[in-house]
Amino acid sequence: MTATASPQTDARDLFAELTGATPAGFWSAPGRVNLIGEHTDYNDGFVFPFAIDGRTVVALGTRGDGRIRVVSTFDPVPIEVALADLDTLFPDRRDEIVEWARYPLGVAWALQDAARAAGVDPAPLTGVDIALASDVPVGAGLSSSAAIEGATASALNDLWGLGLTRVALARAGRRAENEAVGAPTGIMDQMASMLGRPDAGIFLDCRSLDADVVDLGFADAGLEVLVVDTRVSHAHATGGYGERRAACERGAEIMGVSALRDLVPADLDRARELMDDVTFRRVRHVVTEDQRVLDAVRLLRAEGPRAIGALLDASHASMRDDFEISTAELDLAVETARAAGAVGARMTGGGFGGSSIALIDSTLVDDAAARIVAAFAEAGFCEPHVFTVHPSEGARRDG
Ligand code: GLA
Repeated sequence: MTATASPQTDARDLFAELTGATPAGFWSAPGRVNLIGEHTDYNDGFVFPFAIDGRTVVALGTRGDGRIRVVSTFDPVPIEVALADLDTLFPDRRDEIVEWARYPLGVAWALQDAARAAGVDPAPLTGVDIALASDVPVGAGLSSSAAIEGATASALNDLWGLGLTRVALARAGRRAENEAVGAPTGIMDQMASMLGRPDAGIFLDCRSLDADVVDLGFADAGLEVLVVDTRVSHAHATGGYGERRAACERGAEIMGVSALRDLVPADLDRARELMDDVTFRRVRHVVTEDQRVLDAVRLLRAEGPRAIGALLDASHASMRDDFEISTAELDLAVETARAAGAVGARMTGGGFGGSSIALIDSTLVDDAAARIVAAFAEAGFCEPHVFTVHPSEGARRDG
């Protein structure tokens, strides 16, 4: 994706403004696009995301007073608390912290707990100043939040010498999101942000957390991933996301399984008899989506990326008709991309707004983008942001 400024420069400048000093180091982590496997992660199922080339950078310096101060380009006002007070703030008093700051502070809180569980006494952990800057679009369904969590978790893990694995850092990020922010999300975004590899997707079993790095081969096949950020923003701490999750849990309970992951498409006839129509359709989306992820990974490995187009299309139809999380803007973006020659297209992320993706020949990208912008104007929708993303490396130290 095309960055307007370097988040590393922004983070360094912000850090200098805050402290008058240069940071001890920089860490960064990417946002993600989910190729296929939506609302399957919290059902213990399969997902297939990749990390994108939009990143959040943390500039970090130490301080001797056991306090943590965070500042970001999202909000010029720094937030400061004692590390020892994080346990009293989260989760019960989280409303006292401005929302963006709950992500980095929530990660610090979750890491202190992970440290305790690993036998490290968190009391002597060094205080920190953190400046955050990002070129992952916020509210676009590209996991700007997982990028903040991944960059902060990597920085604090190194600074505090915790030696936690990437999976443990992803878990800490998810805990921040669930308990410090209050969004009942799964672990896909944090795992993609921690484990991403250039030109590869992460095929993840969300029950075992086994992850396979799968070559995508988009560039060799002359394909690009075109993102349409509809600029209809979504928030998962409220509303539809939690309702969908509750319907899935209800469906699993009716079927007598611990999670929908334990059902296969052949179980759907019985499911239809046992539950109301809405719950059934939520269940059908998840069960068929898990199968589509498995099929997509198998087809990609056997035949290359052009073979997965029909599965992307079927995934979108299932989210639109059964899970009912698409919007008129997302449907228009998907249909227009297909009409412009995309191999396949679908909405990506939690839904109710955010972005769609299209797998499309690089020669068709400009025409497709122009057609999408024109179709949005004609429909009277807000002008979308249309750009390409490339599968990129996960969280890392940058200097
Ligand atoms: C959001 C959540 C993820 C996942 C997706 C839907 O991105 O953060 O955990 O549930 O929605 O697939």
